[in-house]
Amino acid sequence: MEPIILVVGARPNFMKMAPLYSELKRRKLPVILLHTGQHYDENMSKVFFEDLNMPKPDIYLGVGSSSHAKQTAQIMTDFEKVCQNETPSLVVVAGDVNSTIACALVATKLAIPVAHVEAGLRSFDMNMPEEINRILTDRISNILLTPSKDANENLIREGMEQEKIKLVGNIMIDSLLNNLESAKKSNIHDELKIDKTEYVLITAHRPSNVDYENNLARIVKAIEAICEDTKAVFPLHPRTSNMLKKFGFKNKIKQISNLILTKPLGYIDFLALIKESKTVLTDSGGLQEETTALGIPCITLRDNTERPITIEKGTNILTGNDTRKIIQAWENINMNGGKKGQIPDLWDGKTSERISNIIETFLK
Ligand code: UD1
Repeated sequence: MEPIILVVGARPNFMKMAPLYSELKRRKLPVILLHTGQHYDENMSKVFFEDLNMPKPDIYLGVGSSSHAKQTAQIMTDFEKVCQNETPSLVVVAGDVNSTIACALVATKLAIPVAHVEAGLRSFDMNMPEEINRILTDRISNILLTPSKDANENLIREGMEQEKIKLVGNIMIDSLLNNLESAKKSNIHDELKIDKTEYVLITAHRPSNVDYENNLARIVKAIEAICEDTKAVFPLHPRTSNMLKKFGFKNKIKQISNLILTKPLGYIDFLALIKESKTVLTDSGGLQEETTALGIPCITLRDNTERPITIEKGTNILTGNDTRKIIQAWENINMNGGKKGQIPDLWDGKTSERISNIIETFLK
């Protein structure tokens, strides 16, 4: 049998592919793990392979950072050669990063079937590079593996064939549940000298928030206010770190008392931090889901979300980067404990099994 290529490239891909990789291997299917190298720093990439028990990738393209066009083009050029050499039976891509669309586009033009994990999510915000990547990837994929019913509805509305769409649940939750025990053993709270349940966890890296001086200033101001009475931990994404420097905010943010800035953290330490936090302040897609799965209140620094189920069922609320709204949301959570929320259907840790069943049937 020709191999199945699993593509990873950027940080949010790793936790989506790890459980699928191990399930396909368990079934003795021929799998090639390919890393495009979109993310390459040790703490944006290697540490996740270690934490998630993934082996070193079989193929590493090493494309690195660049403009969208250059990065996408480089991945495409390199991945085309891989597809020609390996003649895979299926290419599996995940999420919405540049590596996702680049590899899906190459495969489909070579008449290699594509499966998209996390298909159908829509923010309806075409200013987000990820929204463009999602729509285009779904349009050319042969198997659309969706995490929730809203995703199926989006795909049907866009005219995708019903037979291609498979509701499989949220694969991130497979990784989360697989690693909760290890997270309990993390020393990160001691290392950062914070008490469990007594801190806010912050992440921000969306271009719409951090690439614009005014927007980043509004978020920094909100953090300053929150830190007046609470400790907070803010692992800085390289993009955010660069932008804080560029706009001259680095010193200001370093001086906020109660705020602990760290480098990007690995999966296990970060999971430990989410699980014991009072609330999470973020613009990440994955964190909106992880907080819903763990019942931790989440304030999302965006005006929209491609994951509406985290609002309808989960613990998520949207504030955008409006300083006043962020502070209000925090005060409300601090006083009243925040939304309780429920766990959405099929966020049960068995998504990789369901996907593997579908892949096996498809390749028969
Ligand atoms: C990418 C994804 C985004 C995802 C995010 C998670 C796209 C379009 N965006 O955004 O959806 O939420 O990853 O992190 O694919 N850099 C480093 N080291 C690295 C990687 C990046 O220093 O290992 C720096 C570089 O200066 C680079 C910048 O971060 O230019 C941005 O990286 P890039 O991969 O282009 O986009 P992200 O903002 O990480």
